[in-house]
Amino acid sequence: MLPSKLHALFCLCTCLALVYPFDWQVLNPVAHIESSAWVSKIQALMGAANIGQTKIPRGNGFYSVGCTDLMFDYTKKGTFLRLYYPSQDDHHSDTLWIPNKEYFLGLSKFLGTHWLMGKIMSLFFGSVTTPAAWNAPLRTGEKYPLIIFSHGLGALRTIYSAIGIDLASHGFIVAAVEHRDGSASSTYYFKDQSAVEIGNKSWLYFRTLKRGEEAFPFRNKQLRQRAKECSQALSLILDIDHGRPVTNVLDLEFDVEQLKDSIDRDKIAVMGHSFGGATVIQTLSEDQRFRCGIALDAWMLPVGDEVYSRIPQPLFFINSEHFQNPSNILRMKKCFLPDRKRKMITIRGSVHQNFVDFTFATGKIIGHLFTLKGDIDSNVAISLSNKASLAFLQKHLGLEKDFDQWDSLIEGEDDHLIPGTNIDTTNTKPLCRTPEE
Ligand SMILES: *[C@@H]1O[C@H](CO)[C@@H](O)[C@H](O)[C@H]1NC(C)=O
Repeated sequence: MLPSKLHALFCLCTCLALVYPFDWQVLNPVAHIESSAWVSKIQALMGAANIGQTKIPRGNGFYSVGCTDLMFDYTKKGTFLRLYYPSQDDHHSDTLWIPNKEYFLGLSKFLGTHWLMGKIMSLFFGSVTTPAAWNAPLRTGEKYPLIIFSHGLGALRTIYSAIGIDLASHGFIVAAVEHRDGSASSTYYFKDQSAVEIGNKSWLYFRTLKRGEEAFPFRNKQLRQRAKECSQALSLILDIDHGRPVTNVLDLEFDVEQLKDSIDRDKIAVMGHSFGGATVIQTLSEDQRFRCGIALDAWMLPVGDEVYSRIPQPLFFINSEHFQNPSNILRMKKCFLPDRKRKMITIRGSVHQNFVDFTFATGKIIGHLFTLKGDIDSNVAISLSNKASLAFLQKHLGLEKDFDQWDSLIEGEDDHLIPGTNIDTTNTKPLCRTPEE
């Protein structure tokens, strides 16, 4: 997403506000954003214009899906994740999608826009829910394979719910970590136990590259931290599975003890989008407990050259048509060594944001304008990505399910798929590092 486009969105909102038949006594929204009358009016407007179209899809699988957040311990070095899991049918309300306004402020920093943009987004999206039952009890009587999920640059643990929910509805437990390396839009922790008790959060905002700072050393350091955070999240969940008493710092209704003996301990995979795709690769190379990985539109710049030969596990690249470029693809191809199980497909007509819930959060026109949507229907795109992922996971985790019905998607055999990539790399020098997106 380009900042200029979001400025355009901001202007569009302001214009809409001006032409809308309300009593707008205010022409300068900056001076009056604190006015609650103004806020409630724009909220009503945006509600009418957009929220009705926010439809993050339900899972297509057999299981009902629950959702909770888990933080342990409370420090910056602890683990913070959102968990999607097969749940009992229960009367729990849907999950708040982006639960704190600070995430929107962080997002506006990531996009390089005015803080007011964050406020506006918060009005747009602050009350949107995603179709998973918040804190519903875990469905017991079965052990579930586990997926650790890593988010992209400027993102957060909650905005890949269309993926997390669908996988959980097919019988996975999915733990989407929130990274503390400065790559999340923002994230929080607690300074000490008394801060926990009064709920005084310490927010850590998105860290931009300083002027003149080299991208690779900075991003590679973040990447290593991200991989450690994925491994640590896995260790935490396996500990809980073993019955170690763990108290959720967030003190939610979902009792984490339910997760005891719930994990199929040798069926573990890692998955991620963009920077999270690079994190998949780094994590596989460092931690053999992960049996395979799926990289969604991976951004390869942060990956060090030494890593490519150190990934024995199967790896699946699912790309969008419009994000990739030759040097990024060449780095992916460096993972394709003899005797290694590698697959790559590209979803026709898709954009980078097709893997992120925001693709479902706007109508067609706004979605195109901000490249949140591609030419392909967003539901079709995510469904292809999820089915291909399920088939790949069944194959390489040794699951006994019926996900092999989608095996042909792994080969790119579908009208909406391209086997391999649409990018021609024949005239590209292999080692040049491109500037950041
Ligand atoms: C919350 O934490 C911040 C930073 O540690 C501190 O400055 C502030 O006084 C705390 N607020 C309360 C109400 O304790």
